[in-house]
Amino acid sequence: MKLFAHFRVANICAMLAMTWVIGYQVTVARCESQKAAAAIGSKRVEALIAAMSIDEKLGQLTQRPGGMRTDDNPEVAHAKREDLKREVREGKVGSFLGAFGAEYINDLQRVAVEESKHGIPLIIGNDIIHGCRTIFPIPLAEAASWDPALVERSAHIAAVEAAAMGTHWTFAPMVDICRDPRWGRVAEGNGEDPYLGSIIAAARVRGFQGDDLKASDSLLACAKHFAAYGAPEGGRDYNTVDISMATLFEVHLPPFRAAVDAGVGTMMSAFNEINGVPATANRFIMTEVLRSQWGFDGFVVSDWTAVTELVAHGYARDDAHAAALAIDAGVDMDMTSQAYRTHLAKAIDDGHLDIRTIDDAVRRVLKTKESIGLFDDPYTDPELHKKVILCDEHRGVARESARRSMVLLKNDGNVLPLKPGIKKIALIGPLADNQRDMLGTWAAIGKAEDVVTIRTGMGAAVGDEVAINFEIGCQIEGGDVAGIQKAVEVARASDMAIVVVGETAGMSGEASCRSNIDLPGHQLELVKAIHATGKPMVVLVASGRPLAIPWVAEHVPTIVQIWHPGVEAGHAVADVLFGKVNPSAKLPITIPRNVGQVPIYYAHKQTGRPPSDSFFTSKYSDVPWTPLYPFGFGLSYTKFGYSKMKLSQVKMKPGESITASATITNTGDVAGEEIVQLYIRDLVGSRTRPVKQLRGFKRVSLAPGESKTITFTLTESDLAYWDSNFEFKAEPGKFVVSIGPNSVDGMSTDFELIAE
Ligand code: GLC
Repeated sequence: MKLFAHFRVANICAMLAMTWVIGYQVTVARCESQKAAAAIGSKRVEALIAAMSIDEKLGQLTQRPGGMRTDDNPEVAHAKREDLKREVREGKVGSFLGAFGAEYINDLQRVAVEESKHGIPLIIGNDIIHGCRTIFPIPLAEAASWDPALVERSAHIAAVEAAAMGTHWTFAPMVDICRDPRWGRVAEGNGEDPYLGSIIAAARVRGFQGDDLKASDSLLACAKHFAAYGAPEGGRDYNTVDISMATLFEVHLPPFRAAVDAGVGTMMSAFNEINGVPATANRFIMTEVLRSQWGFDGFVVSDWTAVTELVAHGYARDDAHAAALAIDAGVDMDMTSQAYRTHLAKAIDDGHLDIRTIDDAVRRVLKTKESIGLFDDPYTDPELHKKVILCDEHRGVARESARRSMVLLKNDGNVLPLKPGIKKIALIGPLADNQRDMLGTWAAIGKAEDVVTIRTGMGAAVGDEVAINFEIGCQIEGGDVAGIQKAVEVARASDMAIVVVGETAGMSGEASCRSNIDLPGHQLELVKAIHATGKPMVVLVASGRPLAIPWVAEHVPTIVQIWHPGVEAGHAVADVLFGKVNPSAKLPITIPRNVGQVPIYYAHKQTGRPPSDSFFTSKYSDVPWTPLYPFGFGLSYTKFGYSKMKLSQVKMKPGESITASATITNTGDVAGEEIVQLYIRDLVGSRTRPVKQLRGFKRVSLAPGESKTITFTLTESDLAYWDSNFEFKAEPGKFVVSIGPNSVDGMSTDFELIAE
């Protein structure tokens, strides 16, 4: 153990050295200047810090639930509002979450600005994750678009609507990398890959914040959950995270770094521990990495009661100890536990905490409030939201986002797009005429009534030309199978059947983990019964996570993963089914054959006995070792051919770059878009390397018969990783470069990085 302990210390020190190397190379200028700037605020901020009592300072580091009870009893609502106003007036709170509505928020803000001693405005945060009232596809679905520009537009629209409702700050983007679909919050992230996840994280930050944080349609963003929240043991939310430092830095931190480099204004500390140290008390990541190395100069908010949960973790003796640990680690604002305002004044008096730690946290919070214009313009135009909420333009972008997120997994016999001549379609399943679940998890103030169901969308697309005969068949979970026979009869009486199965919105999201990722309830029985009619058939999977659908994959000719597609679900599904749009989405996460394969992801290691037909190799005896559908996979209504792959050179000197290109041809008879992907493999490393790593992707539109050459540039930093000495660098040796339609297929060739 001693050796291991030394390794860990060396490991940490090396990590510090490694991150310093990065820091030095990439951000030394920014670091120094930001450190200097971070040490002082504006004259106003410094004057406020000088004038505030310790309790008033701790009030600024306290966030409270600010949601109004919506029951009919106006007296209760009024009393609740007066309670909150009293806390504001007394300077005991600096931020609320869960409060919506410009009138209500202006009312609270007026007390802060005009009645409290120092007139410091409140900052209002909310979970604006994939839309505010216009709800977009869940983030995992938007990641399937591999379209950062579209993701940015979607985030901007969310900001426009949320800001109009009085919100200043969103607890998004959630950028946790996840390779375990049992975890309910996989729905909320960008999938399994740090490269794709980083690009999308940055796009969301840009979309939420825009170019001017003081603009009326800008929303301060918050990258969460720092860090490695997506790697809980067993895929169980809040569970232990015990990973190597290499995995932490190679897989889980890059999207946070990308968010910081994109200018994210805040970060949120995670509930989980990381290798024995809870994130919310983890000075190494919260200060050494985040601030000293990456140059982050915003503020960190804890997750909900994560400060006092340090006691449950067995890391703090009591709430007072927890508060001191968290603020000292670098967590500036306490979300809802009240431990900061209850205990830190005594910690200062007892000499357990330096007042400068408090002042630094207050400075970061006040500088952020200043940077988003709250001191200059603290109120929201109460009429604004009427012009922007759920407007046609926003719905139009939600529809485009949904269309681009739907992954065509199978299309044998080209059942899709639906052909003219079909006169009767049986539309079957518990998600076919369903509004609530189409919104997915974390739907902010989205309303089920806003949702265009698949039944409505298909009806609108065909009018009277085609009969859409709906029959639910069964419930998503529970219930009985009595309705299946009726659904079979409707299918028999129709020309073909569309069966929509999957999950409720509540089956994914926070604390919504599943030990079984099969289709819930009797849905597979329903699919089998419809399949037995022999009618042409399409299955649409509406879920917040990858579901294991091996029987469906084997027997049903056409399958589309539609996720939870948001308010425009029905129109987007109809656009795909009737060929108004040719699907181009690609999986941002692997779909397993069954939960026993988990964790299963494309960027895995080779091992000394890679899976093969030889007996003594790494595989299961009861299921193939390959996934049902791999990362990056997605079909089109046309076909694409890959040819003429070449490299600009076969030897690369340090500091040089190399270009890799291939020709993509539309060999089908309809126009389409292909997301061409570039992967590398470092064949030999001083630490073992994954069999593939995504290092580029480009969308190409091609008419039937058209060809285009797509070129990627690889630099030395694309080849770099943290080697056995935890130095971030590329090691000389052979690399394989692949260009293809997903993480399995495509063309490969190799080159050598030569030593100095
Ligand atoms: C929740 C979530 C976090 C969210 C916060 C406020 O527990 O973990 O993602 O932003 O509390 O709702």
